[in-house]
Amino acid sequence: MKFFLDTASISEIEEAASWGVIAGVTTNPSLYAREGGKLSEFHAHIKRICEIVDGPVSAETVTLKRDEIVAEGEILADIHPNVVVKVPTMPEGLAATKMLAEREIPVNMTLCFTVPQAIMAARAGAAYISPFVGRFDDISEDGIEHLANVVGALGNYDFGHDVEVIAASIRHPEHVLQSALMGADIATVPFAVLEKCIKHPLTDRGLEAFLADWEKVKNS
Ligand code: G3P
Repeated sequence: MKFFLDTASISEIEEAASWGVIAGVTTNPSLYAREGGKLSEFHAHIKRICEIVDGPVSAETVTLKRDEIVAEGEILADIHPNVVVKVPTMPEGLAATKMLAEREIPVNMTLCFTVPQAIMAARAGAAYISPFVGRFDDISEDGIEHLANVVGALGNYDFGHDVEVIAASIRHPEHVLQSALMGADIATVPFAVLEKCIKHPLTDRGLEAFLADWEKVKNS
């Protein structure tokens, strides 16, 4: 499973990239707003992310009609060759995805919750499909089970093009663990969750013991 970072924060992206573990980035309007992002600087911000991470960088469209989504997607795709256009899973989004895919612009269909939605996204030509896990948990449903259904169903078919499942709306390391066990292609993870994933109390305790013993060696 590949890790993408789910953030618009340049400092988080720089730090995670320095660890050598992230293969891409996903952003959305909420994440950009959280960084205090300005509309006039949005394209430059996406370009900056593409310069830090050599992999797919999802930038989301914010229009609702197919022609507008396509026009927006073409402008986003012009920012950098690594840009993937993020399009919501809805009828106009499907139509836009079909048109963008025909123009060889990769699309990440987002806000996907069900198997039928995922299959339609794949049929429309999406290169990436993002089932949301945590938002199911928010309404007391099992997001991991829904994700497993999507991964299993898509694996049954050849869509004639590469389709990768991005486990999205990941809230804690258990979501990452389960995504990996079921064979999700990618987990897009907030920086705080990525940090939690590398930490374990036994690692800390083991390191403490090694360092204490090494002090004894040094003083011998
Ligand atoms: O990748 C989608 C993600 O940003 C949504 O996460 O936590 O807002 O459900 P969340």
